[in-house]
Amino acid sequence: MNILILGSGGREHTFCYKLAKSPKKPKLFIAPGNAGTAQLGTNLPIDPTNLEAVAQAMTQHQIDLVVVGPEAPLVAGVHDFIAAHPTLGHIPVIGPKQEAAQLEGSKAYAKAFMERHHIPTAPYKQFTADTLAEGLAYLETIPAPYVLKADGLAAGKGVLIIHELAEAKEALTDMLAHKKFGAASEQVVIEGFLDGIELSCFVLTDGSGHVTFPFAKDYKRIGEGDTGLNTGGMGAVSPVPFNDPAFEQKIHDRIITPTLEGFKKDKLDFVGFVFIGLIRVGDDPFVIEYNVRMGDPETQVVLPRIENDMVELLSATAEKRLNEVTLQISSKAAATVVAVSGGYPEAYEKGKEITGIPNDALIFHAGTTTNDGKLVTSGGRVLTSTGFGTDIHEALTSAYGNLTNISFEGMYFRKDLGFDL
Ligand code: AMP
Ligand code: GLY
Repeated sequence: MNILILGSGGREHTFCYKLAKSPKKPKLFIAPGNAGTAQLGTNLPIDPTNLEAVAQAMTQHQIDLVVVGPEAPLVAGVHDFIAAHPTLGHIPVIGPKQEAAQLEGSKAYAKAFMERHHIPTAPYKQFTADTLAEGLAYLETIPAPYVLKADGLAAGKGVLIIHELAEAKEALTDMLAHKKFGAASEQVVIEGFLDGIELSCFVLTDGSGHVTFPFAKDYKRIGEGDTGLNTGGMGAVSPVPFNDPAFEQKIHDRIITPTLEGFKKDKLDFVGFVFIGLIRVGDDPFVIEYNVRMGDPETQVVLPRIENDMVELLSATAEKRLNEVTLQISSKAAATVVAVSGGYPEAYEKGKEITGIPNDALIFHAGTTTNDGKLVTSGGRVLTSTGFGTDIHEALTSAYGNLTNISFEGMYFRKDLGFDL
């Protein structure tokens, strides 16, 4: 079986690692991949949002199954493109079509979906340049802090949480009148602030059946104590200690079930991963956001805890047999620590040699490549170290231990993960 994985991060390396362990011995192709995925399959130097190039690669390498890692190809319609292709239309794609990808691609679409299906989330209103005056007036009627969200994809930078009214008004004006985030902020969602602790929920659905993966918690801020700029994610742990059985049951009843029912009612035929960003406020769960893919770095703690054959799990999804599948989850806890280039998430240098990667540890590559036979950095998030233990603190100790000998110029990682748990 030939499997094409779209993407190039730690998430995609983790998928390759799990797929490569399958007794079905699939041949893996990764577009574009990184130095880690190159050890498990064939990297293809193509942009996963170049749909023609993806289709050509599928034909050339006789691909049987496509797994989409990041959101951009989904929002660009890669699934629709393949489904409508004259010779590739029968090949399954794990990842939703363009319409359903709007759950991540448009905050307003996601909020309307939640409202329509009575899924708990913060109250909201949406505004455009034409209704800026109403948006400014609306800000005066709600309490601080103000949550302003650019409607479209803004590389994780489109959400502003502002404490002062005057500053919030200025930001709204910048977003709508001056297109601060380009086309992404032609529409802005203003929503109520939810005060609580966040966790991530992952569901794999085939359009009728589904499995719920282990929960995880990620650390988004660059600085220790959850301070400084937002990043793609600096680490993650699974399971989540405050996700007790009674709380998890509420997540199933109030959020997962109505979300999957909502897909059916809206005829979205959602096949793929649903990543529900949740917040626990008191004893109740609320949805912060939907993503239509796995999280990164959450994948690096979630997939290693799943003991099922990953090829079989994805085949069951493609063949709409997920109802027959029971997940086997390891009782071990997992933690992952992300090592980044100095300066990230702002400007950073690339091409720094990476040394000291242990052979006997789970090190997933993200921004890595090879140059003259040397392993070098090629991105902000460079690699992630996953460890296991009887609880997340033991798992963190193991993940940190495996980073000890790894080095590259400017290497930085947070040393306080789990501090809040
Ligand atoms: P999002 O891109 O929607 O996940 O938002 C990015 C981050 O902003 C989230 O992970 C939360 O930490 C925070 N955030 C978003 N919406 C809210 C909200 N309504 N209340 C509090 N924090 C929020
Ligand atoms: N770690 C958050 C994300 O993948 O969006």
